[in-house]
Formats: sequence, C-alpha cells, structure tokens
Amino acid sequence: MENVGTNYDVIVIGGGPIGLSAAYHLSKCKAKTLLLEQFTFLNQLGSSAGVSRQFRIPYPEEYMVKLVKQSIPFWDELQSLTPTQLRDKVGTLWFGDPAVHSTEGNIGQAEKALTAENVPYTTLTAAQIEREYHFKALPSTYTGLFQPDGASIDLKATQQTLFNWNLASPFVTMKDEAPVTRIVEKHKKFEVTTPLGVFVAEKLVIAPGPYVNSVINLLGFHIEATYWNMASAFYKKTKPDIQYPTWFVFQNPIGENGNQFYGFPEVSWNYPGYIRVASDFVIQPLTSPEQRTLVPNPKELAFTAAWVENHMTGLDPIPHFTSTCLVALSKIPNKELLIDFAPPYVPDHKNIVLYATGWAGKFVPILGKILSDLALTGHTPFDISHFQLGHVYFRQLKKNL
Ligand code: BEZ
Repeated sequence: MENVGTNYDVIVIGGGPIGLSAAYHLSKCKAKTLLLEQFTFLNQLGSSAGVSRQFRIPYPEEYMVKLVKQSIPFWDELQSLTPTQLRDKVGTLWFGDPAVHSTEGNIGQAEKALTAENVPYTTLTAAQIEREYHFKALPSTYTGLFQPDGASIDLKATQQTLFNWNLASPFVTMKDEAPVTRIVEKHKKFEVTTPLGVFVAEKLVIAPGPYVNSVINLLGFHIEATYWNMASAFYKKTKPDIQYPTWFVFQNPIGENGNQFYGFPEVSWNYPGYIRVASDFVIQPLTSPEQRTLVPNPKELAFTAAWVENHMTGLDPIPHFTSTCLVALSKIPNKELLIDFAPPYVPDHKNIVLYATGWAGKFVPILGKILSDLALTGHTPFDISHFQLGHVYFRQLKKNL
C-alpha cells in the first residue's frame, strides 16, 4: 500500500476506546492509519463516559463467555504497555431473582455457559451474599454466583495507554475536532471530508459509538438502535474497611423502576472513599443521540439511591458526583454488539468495517484487533458470526452515494 500525503491505508472514524484500539492494532500491522475524532480525544460525551467499567466473564451465551476469555491475552498485552493497573481483579458477583431474564441475561443460563466453557465460579445463597458481600435484606429466594476473574476496568487508563501508543506510533496520525461531513468512494478509495481537510484511504473502520448514524448516513444507510442515557452516582463509604466486588442484581421491574442495578468496588483512580452504583435501565429511551442531556434522570437516581439504602451496608445513600453515559443498543433483547461490513449497496462495501451498539468496555482490546483484522484481510480468527447483524439492522436511505 502506498504512503503519500493525505493518503492512508485505513481511516478510523471515532476516537473513543474502540477506535483507539483499532488504530493500535492497525499500527502493529504497519498500516498507515488516520484516526478521526469529532470532539476531543478522551472526552466524556459518548459511551466511554466515566472512568470504570465491569470486566466480567458471566454471560448467558457460551459464545460471549468464549469471547471474554479470548480477550484476556489482549488485556495482558495492553497491560504490558503501562505501569498503571488497567483491571482491578475483585471478582464478579451476579445475584438476584433466579427467574429474571434481564438485559444482561439470567443467572442460571450464565452458570450453564460458564460450566460449558470450564470457567470457575461458586454458587451462593441469599444468606451467603449478605454475609460475604455486605448486602442486606435480600429476599431469601435470591441466588447468586461469584466469578473470581471479574474486575473493575480503569477505562481512563485503558484509553490513555492506547492514546499514548498511537501518539508515538509512526504509523498513526490522530486528528481531533474533525467530524466527518462527507464520504465519497472513487476508484476503490474513500475520500473523507472533515473541517481539517480531505483525507483518502483504501479502507474505513467506523466506530463512533452512539454517533454511528451521523457517519453511516453519509454512506447511504443507517442502523436501527435505541439510545440509553444511563445515570450513575457515587456513594460515600461510612465503613472504610468493607469492599464490594463488581456486582449486578437481577430483579423484576416495579412500574417505571427498572430495578436492575450494578456497582463497583472503591477504586484508587476514581473518587477514593466513594463507590459507584448505577441503574441498568432507563425510564425513557431516546430515539437519537441529540436528545441526551448531561444531567441524569432524577427518578433513576432516586430509585438507585433507595436500593443502596435498602440493600447495601457501609454506605451513605446520598448520590454524589452524578454523571450520564450515552449508549446505542440494538433492539434485540440481549443488546448485542454489531460488527459487520457495510451493506452490499454501498460501493466497495467490503472495505468498510463497522462496530456499533452494545456494552463493549470489556472487549476494547480484542475488538480493536477484530476490526483491524477485518479491515486489512477481510477475516478474523474470532467468531463474530453472532454480531454480523447488518442484515437485521441496516436500513438503506433513499439517497445513496
Ligand atoms: C456489562 O458488563 O456489560 C454491563 C454491566 C452493567 C451494566 C451494563 C452492562
């Protein structure tokens, strides 16, 4: 491939964690890469807002368990680039009503998938969860599982590590405040227009998180997604010694209280002395990213604070340091990731790779590798068949290229 002026082998659109990771893997293959970010790098305006994420192996589907396992060597590789600990291994606690099938799946199904993949875990009763993990007043019918490899991801350090690598790489050019306004395919090359100039590449990787439609609309299609503006808050520890794992509680909704919550341990990199607890539901999903606000929904915060007060020990149930995180989710129940080539009606579609939708924080290092593989070779050794959902979610716009 040639290396001339504003000509690149690959242009990655979207400079969040997934785009940074794709650029990292492309640079390792010596592909001349341009990484474009519409806002500034390391911003708080997309799905990477906040600084922690859950690394967890339990999933109700075996293929998801397998993919998380396959991501571990890629986390280890990233870890070797920084002295900052990227994953604080505190374990994953999944508990709640065993009959509930939530957006994250179901406890019994996850146990089956973990067993099939030889992943160790212990099962727990409600009394054990209260005794060992500091929760209280749980219904006696609740069950749980603890998986010791779960971790709290330092997402900020993860992004910073990838950013630093790309900044130093002779193969990567990074440009921020560079929203893409036009994409034209000419003679098997893509001309990508931004306020900073027009750039040309043979391949495109599109990973702008919840802003995906603003990019793919330029290629004549869009995806069907729903948008959650997720609320989160920190709660002050009143008992300094107790430590929670990363956890998720499965419960049936009560009216507009979706009643699914999740939380983190206290971490040194984010409001030490406080722990983060968040709701995994929204009262009102959005139909486009423009509808989001940076102010959390007060009812979602109140439902979460009430749960903290009723069921957690050692915390003051007043929410502090509140924030929101915008995520695009597919409309099928388990909120899959979408990883695919552009649809066939887009010229040169096999040279356009796209990642959109779903909760992908735990997959940042491996997803960059998968996108890089697909862009450079058209294939990846990882099983992405479950995520090639373009035929379900892509819709052609009337006016094509
Ligand atoms: C996840 O691990 O994918 C996840 C955890 C909490 C809320 C949403 C997603």
